[in-house]
Amino acid sequence: MKIHQHLRHLCPLIATLVVPSISHAQNVRPAPNGIEYPQGLTNWRVIGTSIRNDNNTQRVILGNSIAIKAARAKTDKLHWPEGAILAKLVWKNETLATWKAATVPGDFMHAEIMVRDTKKYSATKGWGYARWTGLDLKPHGQNSSFVETCANCHKAAQNTAFVFTQPARLP
Ligand code: HEC
Repeated sequence: MKIHQHLRHLCPLIATLVVPSISHAQNVRPAPNGIEYPQGLTNWRVIGTSIRNDNNTQRVILGNSIAIKAARAKTDKLHWPEGAILAKLVWKNETLATWKAATVPGDFMHAEIMVRDTKKYSATKGWGYARWTGLDLKPHGQNSSFVETCANCHKAAQNTAFVFTQPARLP
């Protein structure tokens, strides 16, 4: 009897401890090239947004504090310092139910990052690439060679240090 009473009191506590965390960023596996999913990424500040008309998606581009400082520096020549991380979150477009002319984020597609380390990632022009797919953030790529696809396409932005995004104008 006594033991039962004790268990009854303990049960809610145990239930709270075993319920999985609501934050999906916990226990995310690193990308095949060893790059870790940055803690707190969803709290980073915005550098820009973009819309892709060819695949019906919209994105926000975020930066860690080093990247934000660089992006908001009042200078003509944008310079991404060592340790800067750029992130891109991608959603499928969805029509807002209450206002049909508005397109809003629907299904979450993936999160991807570029980590600035000119020595470590010299093979991919000074940026380490990684992507995680879906809300459960499954690492993208069978092995580390996935970065070649990333780096190859980003060559189109070689005049802006392989970064496509130019910081959105802010008042
Ligand atoms: C076919 C071309 C292409 C490939 C492949 C590609 N990207 Fe990009 N990436 C872009 C374009 C275009 C943008 C800017 C427009 C946008 O926001 O989608 C971009 C933007 C980004 C950004 C935001 C910073 C920036 O450069 O604007 C990150 C981070 C990023 N890509 C990471 C990756 C990673 C990681 C991979 C590989 C897993 C990858 N990209 C593969 C074309 C590509």
